[in-house]
Amino acid sequence: MSTEAAAERWQQVAAALRYHNHRYYVLDDPEISDAAYDRLLTELRELETDFPQLRSASSPSQRVGDAPRADFAKVQHRIPMTSLGNAFDEAELRRWQQRVLRLAGDLPLSWVVEPKIDGLAVSIRYEDGTLSLGATRGNGRVGEEITPNLRTVRDVPLHIPVAPLPAGQPRPAVLEARGEVYMRVADFERLNAQQAAHDEKVFANPRNAAAGSLRLLDSRITAQRPLSFFAYGVGEVEGTTLPGQWETLQYLAQLGFPISADARHFHDFEAAVDYAKSWMAQRETLDYEVDGVVFKVNAFATQEALGVAGREPRWALAWKFPASEAITTLLDISVNVGRTGVINPNALLAPVEIGGVIVSNATLHNEDYIRDRDLRIGDEVIVKRAGDVIPKVLAPLPELRDGSERSWQMPSHCPSCGEPISRLAGEANHYCTNAACPAQLVRQVEHFVSRGAMNIEGFGSKLAARFVEEGLLHDVADIYALTFEQLSALEGFGETSASNLLREIELSKARGMVPLLTALGIRFVGSTVAALLADGYPSLEALLAAPPDALEAIHGIGPVSAKSLTEWASHESNQRLIQKLAAAGLAMQHERQAARDGQPFAGLTFVLTGTLPTLTRRDAQAWIEARGGKVVGSVSSKTDYLVAGESAGSKLTKAQKLSIPILSEEALLALNA
Ligand code: IVH
Repeated sequence: MSTEAAAERWQQVAAALRYHNHRYYVLDDPEISDAAYDRLLTELRELETDFPQLRSASSPSQRVGDAPRADFAKVQHRIPMTSLGNAFDEAELRRWQQRVLRLAGDLPLSWVVEPKIDGLAVSIRYEDGTLSLGATRGNGRVGEEITPNLRTVRDVPLHIPVAPLPAGQPRPAVLEARGEVYMRVADFERLNAQQAAHDEKVFANPRNAAAGSLRLLDSRITAQRPLSFFAYGVGEVEGTTLPGQWETLQYLAQLGFPISADARHFHDFEAAVDYAKSWMAQRETLDYEVDGVVFKVNAFATQEALGVAGREPRWALAWKFPASEAITTLLDISVNVGRTGVINPNALLAPVEIGGVIVSNATLHNEDYIRDRDLRIGDEVIVKRAGDVIPKVLAPLPELRDGSERSWQMPSHCPSCGEPISRLAGEANHYCTNAACPAQLVRQVEHFVSRGAMNIEGFGSKLAARFVEEGLLHDVADIYALTFEQLSALEGFGETSASNLLREIELSKARGMVPLLTALGIRFVGSTVAALLADGYPSLEALLAAPPDALEAIHGIGPVSAKSLTEWASHESNQRLIQKLAAAGLAMQHERQAARDGQPFAGLTFVLTGTLPTLTRRDAQAWIEARGGKVVGSVSSKTDYLVAGESAGSKLTKAQKLSIPILSEEALLALNA
């Protein structure tokens, strides 16, 4: 290939890669497959190997980082990168608006509302369309030069196009884009898992992970970190004039920068406030962390008139969400025994307020979680409380250690029963495997009686612990053996409360199969799975006898729950428990929709034999049961119908002897008509 031909082909392939890069990373709407993209990239790399003069820093092949540097150079921001003033409630936001109204006078006034994504502010400079300089905000006047690092961020354009641009807007000779480098929550979690697996530093939150990844002297490592970027404004611009913030965002998008899809422009301030509020409500559902919304006055002329006070512009304000993180002391680590025997380490914290709630406990998940973060008792730690979930300890602040902090070790024995605890290969959790462990029983009883399960009114955690401690309960079935004498003899337990509780226990017997199956607390069998299972097998007895592949054939049931259930059912102790519950008079059947709608086969017993022409044995059974009929295994005088197919054997002979009606598949299906 001639040098000219190579250069021409390079231009073509590079343009295609830029286009598809933008579709993939910025617009999130790829047009070609990953494989097709990789082929283009390989071709570009090969061209650059054969013709090294084609390679440049802004080539799409250069997202891989540069050789490590000794230090970051300093960059002076010609236009300072200011910070933002904060409002922590609506009243503060409204005071800000009043001041803006007063100061703006007759100047045009409208509002842009943008999410405040939690990351690291950067400036990216383009000269004649090529990325020439990247820097952190630093102190606002002087930042650190991180050009090679920023080039590795996939949605930062390396190049801005000459065309297509809106009419009358040439590509600027100089353009400084400003925005935030951040990490998506899913990317952050994947990165942390990977870091932990390699015994590398685990990051406290997406913000720290983004900052730590971007400010690496070795940009080849930055290239491997899943960083994202969004542009929220401009610094220096030469060769183009823009009227305001909203127009700037659209213009940046035209140039190929990612902008927030959630930015909005309002002429009415009340509408802007409503929008911001709707944003706060969906905070937890986003795949990136936002710590507030930013209100900006749109017109640049008005912005200029309002000016800057200290380091904060008067024309913008961040309305911060209630904090979700705080720093406090890790006083101690205790362990709890869960329902399945799982041992959960739990953090005891110096009480701290997070978003209006006092937090003094937080989960630490398991031993690895503590070890990966090198959490020590006495550490100052970052704690997060988001939504309704249990607070968790994110990370220690090792720079605040004074040497008195102590490492923690998983105890070797169960804190409840004293038996040794163990960790199975491939499992992150430790377990107490003693089936008679009282702590496990307390958790099982708590779960059994809880609202989503058997829903026994007035039976809470305290009673569960007390009854186990008093030796009244050895398994959950013992709940139904509690007597008036036993209860009324307990200190502080009057006759009224005893009879009330016994009445509630009695009532729960009729709850039926789905609550009971949920109450058993089988792993991966919650109320939703229980309902699906009961639709397939409307009797608990039949369900527990079913093989895993029969369970998997039920719509919505996967191999994990199927296996877990059959495994549970295979234990003799569990079988005894079910017998005990049945003997106590608990309803073990599932009343299905069809049953209530007329039940054509109610009270009828069927036996299936031989190979039916179209239905499998399982389908025929389901079809009969869906109509209220029962299918049993052997023929007796109580059998109403024998359904016989090809090569039927002894069951057919027996049915004939007992004069039981014999149906073909066709006759069976016609019975329903
Ligand atoms: S505007 C005067 N817009 O928040 C304009 N900042 O607390 C200054 N940030 O340093 C920035 N999202 O790192 C702006 N939509 C957004 C933002 C945003 C996040 C960050 C940015 C800034 C900090 C100020």
